[in-house]
Amino acid sequence: MNLLADIDKVRAEFDHRLKTARAGKETAEQLRIAFLGRKGKLAALFARMGELSEVERPESGHRLNDAKEYFSTAIQAWEDEAGPEVEAETSVLDLSLPGDPVSLGTLHPVTQLEQQLREIFNRLGFSVFYGPEVETEFYNFEALNFQPDHPARDMQDTFYIDEDLLLRTRTSNNQIHAMQAMRPPVRIIMPGRVYRNEAINPRSYCTFHQVEGLLVDRNVSMAELKGTLQYLARELYGPDTKTRFRPSFFPFTEPSAEMDVYWGLETERDYRITKGTGWLEILGCGMVHPNVLRAVDVDPEEWTGYAFGIGLERTAMLKWGIGDIRYFFEGDLRFLRQF
Ligand code: DAH
Repeated sequence: MNLLADIDKVRAEFDHRLKTARAGKETAEQLRIAFLGRKGKLAALFARMGELSEVERPESGHRLNDAKEYFSTAIQAWEDEAGPEVEAETSVLDLSLPGDPVSLGTLHPVTQLEQQLREIFNRLGFSVFYGPEVETEFYNFEALNFQPDHPARDMQDTFYIDEDLLLRTRTSNNQIHAMQAMRPPVRIIMPGRVYRNEAINPRSYCTFHQVEGLLVDRNVSMAELKGTLQYLARELYGPDTKTRFRPSFFPFTEPSAEMDVYWGLETERDYRITKGTGWLEILGCGMVHPNVLRAVDVDPEEWTGYAFGIGLERTAMLKWGIGDIRYFFEGDLRFLRQF
């Protein structure tokens, strides 16, 4: 009859623990686990039923079930008593209070600029084409008329993934994808992210964004290219914007040029950003090289075209007067919230 005596002991222990618990020593849940839990004191007593003879078993069973009922009712009663007080604090709901403000965030300035460029070129009849960031030598270099020993292919400028795979260094790779996908006439812009293994400083970063443009048609002229890009600069920066074209070199265009926009030379910062000239280069451009057309089986005797590549971060720096390209990549909310 040891078990019956132990049941009494556990009941007495329960009464004592309930008292101290109510005085703040334990929570109702802790008490419940200690006495009614799967590994609790009652379970241990129930487990001992197996030791009993058939005669002893019904009585012990009754007493155990009584104890169980008693424990759970007592704990529940305590909770019910305490409950309303706890609820009282949280259930005060003032429906007349204004709601919590929802933070909507803003589009990144580079995204905003890309959208603006898409609108401007849309008005000129350009559609949008996307291509891959992980690229092969063929699309990034060979088809764009880079000779095999061209220094830009060097590991120092290009992030290689393996022998043939690399992160594209310019969106010009899309010119090739586009002309493989559609025959001329072609009139598209190609936005995207590019990667260069360059020293990081206020003017350059290891990744940035470009919007590439390509127009291929019959009898396309350099004058059309200039007119289009001047229109672009005035749409972006206002009707009085000064631009200039400087001769340049790109393997995939001939002739090639760069367009600068006048930034100004008023502060020391202006000197640093423009290297003391007042002008900031925002894009490269030129007439599509015949070899590029040949690489995609377009006859350069019949078709001509122009292409350009706009650096978005550069353009944004000029548009918003930002002195350091690194701000665009740091995710600093103090910077981003201003747009
Ligand atoms: N790929 C050049 C750059 O990253 C930009 C560029 C220049 C793109 C001339 C072109 C182009 O399409 O015709 O600086």
